[in-house]
Amino acid sequence: MNNQDYIELDRQAQSILTLNDQGNYTVPTKGLYPFQWNWDSALVALGYASFDTDRAWREIETLMRAQWESGMVPHIVFWQDDEGYFPGSKEWGTHHSPPTSGITQPPVAATIVRKLYERSGDKDRAAKLIDALDKWHQWFATARDPEQRGLVAIIHPWESGRDNLPDWDKPLSFVDTSEVGTYQRRDTQHIDADQRPSETDYDRYMALVRFGRDRNWDDKAIAADSPFWVADVGINAILRRAEYDLACLAETLGNTQLATRAHQRAKRLEKGFEGLWSDELNGYVSLDMHRNEKAQNLSAGSWLAFYAGHVLPDHAEPMIALLNSWISQVEFAIPSFDPSHELFDSIRYWRGPVWAIINWMIADGLAQNDHDALAERVRRDTETLISTAGFYEYFCPLTAKGGGGDSFSWTAAMWLAWVSPTSEKTGIQES
Ligand code: DGY
Repeated sequence: MNNQDYIELDRQAQSILTLNDQGNYTVPTKGLYPFQWNWDSALVALGYASFDTDRAWREIETLMRAQWESGMVPHIVFWQDDEGYFPGSKEWGTHHSPPTSGITQPPVAATIVRKLYERSGDKDRAAKLIDALDKWHQWFATARDPEQRGLVAIIHPWESGRDNLPDWDKPLSFVDTSEVGTYQRRDTQHIDADQRPSETDYDRYMALVRFGRDRNWDDKAIAADSPFWVADVGINAILRRAEYDLACLAETLGNTQLATRAHQRAKRLEKGFEGLWSDELNGYVSLDMHRNEKAQNLSAGSWLAFYAGHVLPDHAEPMIALLNSWISQVEFAIPSFDPSHELFDSIRYWRGPVWAIINWMIADGLAQNDHDALAERVRRDTETLISTAGFYEYFCPLTAKGGGGDSFSWTAAMWLAWVSPTSEKTGIQES
């Protein structure tokens, strides 16, 4: 690729964000995902930051306007109606204004806000957001870690953002689907069914939506007997990093009380995270907290341990060896699931494909842990995937074929913020 090629892709990436821009928030892609999604928006802000800082802040400010009184920040905000998506606001039954879903998503926002502040120096906008971010993180610490184990639980696979990862297969198998009834999926009207979660998965997803709705989305009632209560390695790594970034940002802004609170929560999460280590697999894995059972496999979420913070050498060494072995089994890094596992599926959503946003987080973590060459390999592969296939939702690690939605906002954002050498970048910050 020469400079002109990069500049052409920069231009395409910007026009995808503009195409999906609804004014104050950005849809992930038209049709398949027609609302505001939580972690999509946070990551998309990083893309806007390369060409429109004001628009970047606005993306996150809009998301935080949907925060619940409890501190929870919902995974979908239904700012307008759209019949093309299921389950819509009626099925969630949260009775909130604006209408929202009843669950959350990976809290990547504080990390992005820190980057926006470091780039723009806008104290006022950062200061207005950190209280809301602190409240969200505190909600995780109380509602999702009531026993103070230093591990937060998800109550639905959608909260992990990695919907049909094999990690959830066993915990989901205990979910009773007998009352689900009939419903009409919309996702498979937009995308081939062999790229999407199975019917069995969807029944379980809907049973969990119903479970929360029947309890009026009350945190205590849900924590008391949620059929799904799993410490996702990915969300725990992302929250740990977010707490650390929030603490650093609060300190810079002179809010020492908030900085201390975030630091204390980060320390607790750091300790708890070691509970996800598997000697057997030589990596960090998800944990079904109901049954105290660890997942029998690694996923791309395992490498997010590097993004979370410093990984000690006795863990880092075997992890890097394993990561290299994963990479040697595919053409393009990093598959979302173990390519040697029988459940690996190169094109079905989170059961194998490569995702640009996960690659960015892992590369950021590898660089922060002094594995620069590997971080650069991940960037280069992401560049090849996007320049070969286009701005797809995700990519096949074997053939580079694009999968899921096209003209996808967060893929465009990652191109602008990280992959492209010509786009004015927000860069990978040292932390
Ligand atoms: C979906 O509908 O596929 C989403 O991932 C849920 O957030």
